[in-house]
Amino acid sequence: MKALTINQFGGPEQLRIQEVAIPAAGPGEILVRIHATAVNPVDYKIRNGSMKFISGKKFPRILGGDIADTVEQSPKKSLYRPGDKVFAMLSIKGGGYAEFTTVRESHLCHIPEGLNMTEAASVPLAALTALQAFRKEGGIKPGDLVLINGASGGVGSFAVQIAKARGAYVTAVCSARNTEFVKNLGADRVIDYNSEDFTKISTRFNRILDAVAKSSFRRCSKILEKGGLYVSTIPNNGLFFYQALNFLRSKKAGFIMVRPSGGDLMIIADYIKKGLVRPFVQQTFPLEEGARAHEIIESERVRGKIVLSVIP
Ligand SMILES: NC(=O)c1ccc[n+]([C@@H]2O[C@H](COP(=O)([O-])OP(=O)(O)OC[C@H]3O[C@@H](n4cnc5c(N)ncnc54)[C@H](OP(=O)(O)O)[C@@H]3O)[C@@H](O)[C@H]2O)c1
Repeated sequence: MKALTINQFGGPEQLRIQEVAIPAAGPGEILVRIHATAVNPVDYKIRNGSMKFISGKKFPRILGGDIADTVEQSPKKSLYRPGDKVFAMLSIKGGGYAEFTTVRESHLCHIPEGLNMTEAASVPLAALTALQAFRKEGGIKPGDLVLINGASGGVGSFAVQIAKARGAYVTAVCSARNTEFVKNLGADRVIDYNSEDFTKISTRFNRILDAVAKSSFRRCSKILEKGGLYVSTIPNNGLFFYQALNFLRSKKAGFIMVRPSGGDLMIIADYIKKGLVRPFVQQTFPLEEGARAHEIIESERVRGKIVLSVIP
């Protein structure tokens, strides 16, 4: 099969099309034919080697953690039949930048009606991150004041919509060029981070999701309500320390490490069916142009998501 692989860590130029064997499905796994795969920041971090302590150093390596696909082969007792349209977040092993991969059945979910393959591929990893981050410490209640930093990116754009779907009052932080986009996602208030420091405003929030990990718990704790929670998408030593002391503090800190989950994807699919969540794909590239897509995702300026099309 055709796959976009890396054979060593390095820049986007390391991504090359290569012929590799179609993987064989193990117990509890399903072989799928990939139509589209999203590009996430974790992909370039694995590519450049900055995550090798988690991702390992085995080559050739096929990146890609998000897929929209059709079932190619499934066991007799599976919920999924050949031809079913499904989407999934893959494990850290990746495998999405290819024509086929194997997925654990428990990580799959049927694609909700109304989403094409490109849109479906853009959903799993980013939307699951937002959903799982908001579930921490008892979750969001209707009326909660929620602030999302980095609201225009992959995680942030889903976070705004999921928080609204849960009945929160959402303050979104982004740059001026993304204000209209974020308002259209449903944000109640938008702060341009270039003209106002959101950590100095007078509102006190129940939840802060730093989707782009550009602030810190220390700075954000000033605008947290008592009992409020700050969650970052990037763990660091400070956060491990603060999280360990949460039982002593009224203002709590944490981080999210997203996990694949077909059950959680069903919750997101249900939001999509109800019209409460909608992915936004900024740009699509053919698989062969994955290096260009990596240059763009690495710029940290993407609005919504970027997708690689495997079957045009
Ligand atoms: N731990 C986990 O499980 C997990 C899961 C998913 C993602 N992540 C991490 O979370 C981070 C965000 O992921 P993503 O997919 O949302 O990234 P992304 O889509 O690439 O984020 C791009 C967005 O970030 C915004 N941005 C850049 N600098 C900003 C700043 N200083 N303040 C506010 N917004 C800013 C940009 O908007 P402007 O152009 O308007 O600035 C752009 O829309 C990445 O580092 C990723 O690796 C972690």
